[in-house]
Amino acid sequence: GLDVSKLRAETGAITVDEGFVNTGSTLSAITFLDGEKGILRYRGYPIETLAEHCDFVEVCYLLLHGELPTADQIAAFRTDLRQHTMLHEDMRKFYDGFQHDAHPMAILSSVIHALSTFYADSLDVTDEKDVQRCTMRLLAKAPTIAAYAHKKSIGHPFVYPKNDQGYCENFLHMMFSVPAEDYVVNPIHAQALNLLLIVHADHEQNCSTSTVRMVGSSDANLFASIAAGVAALSGPLHGGANEACVSMLERIREDGGDVDKYVRMAKDKSNGFRLMGFGHRVYKSFDPRATIIKKTCHDLLDSGHIDDPIFEIALKLEEVALTDEYFVERQLYPNVDFYSGVIYRALGIPVDMFTVLFAMGRMPGWIAHWQEMRQSPGKRIYRPRQIYTGPTEREFVPMEKR
Ligand code: ACO
Repeated sequence: GLDVSKLRAETGAITVDEGFVNTGSTLSAITFLDGEKGILRYRGYPIETLAEHCDFVEVCYLLLHGELPTADQIAAFRTDLRQHTMLHEDMRKFYDGFQHDAHPMAILSSVIHALSTFYADSLDVTDEKDVQRCTMRLLAKAPTIAAYAHKKSIGHPFVYPKNDQGYCENFLHMMFSVPAEDYVVNPIHAQALNLLLIVHADHEQNCSTSTVRMVGSSDANLFASIAAGVAALSGPLHGGANEACVSMLERIREDGGDVDKYVRMAKDKSNGFRLMGFGHRVYKSFDPRATIIKKTCHDLLDSGHIDDPIFEIALKLEEVALTDEYFVERQLYPNVDFYSGVIYRALGIPVDMFTVLFAMGRMPGWIAHWQEMRQSPGKRIYRPRQIYTGPTEREFVPMEKR
């Protein structure tokens, strides 16, 4: 019963666009995506090409610097990264304070924000050298912070980074090494992880990236802005969907594998159930990242690295949903989260770490957007407007008369 034109007349010319469906918040030269055609490009390079030819660290360089690196540039970049993988020993004490069952996304967000208390001397957002240092610290320390969160949850001692290993190998080493046991990273696992990080590396103005830009627009430092991005990513409608998706596939399996029943449930609006990993605000044909990840699932299956009944369920669910009128009409296709959980499980990553891996992948995208926002000639603090719908002015009633 709202009289919107009356409200408009009272408030002035304000466009209300809840969920920012049609509102462009910025100009950006980082990522191009066409949701109708299923196209995703970082700095002009198709995601399929980057996934085939690059490793994640090269993609970080590309997103941050706008160009693919030369051999010398990437060697220097890797050396710089290696110098920042350790966490200050005092930061281990933070982990003592977290409950053993604390969600690792909450730990990641808290510890990233806490970096600003350890590097207070390099937080000047107007100083290019400070920004570069914070950038390398974030990229290098994210895997260490994440792996420590996992070790904390299982009560194992923390494993220090091994700087002679690649980015993904080092993360798997910190996740799975146990003292007095020889752990050798499986190169196929490292390669699959590399691919997952690449497909998650940027996705233009999604919820968490917009959050990073918004927080940074107030001149908050990079650690604070990224910590806010991690918090935004943790919701089940955003990064948390991969965790929710695997839980859903598990539930279907335990319930006898009847995918039709769950498709029916997802169509019934009265129960609030949705097919997790389906649908996307922008992709209305297919999500090119899901296509790449599904192929990797098949590769891992063929090479004997996946033996997981939930993959079969996922394939069946996709088949049923894609021919169902409800999903076809609404252009609901599997998104990046639909198959990523199957791979994480094959790598031995526990479910509550899935979104943390998404955050590790998204780190270069968040930072590139933060830097782009800061360098924009039209930079202003983000400050949307609203149309007020509350009471008009009223008389104050003293406590004794209420
Ligand atoms: N299952 C069943 N129905 C769905 C689903 C789904 N997964 N997704 C959307 N719909 C329906 C809605 O009920 C709505 O139907 P209606 O027109 O009859 O009312 C219609 O499709 C449009 O859905 P919206 O919620 O308006 O679409 P929106 O763009 O706001 O949301 C979102 C996109 C959040 C991704 C949504 O599709 C969803 O909730 N999906 C499940 C969660 C998920 O997988 N999230 C991961 C997103 S990708 C990422 O963050 C990396």
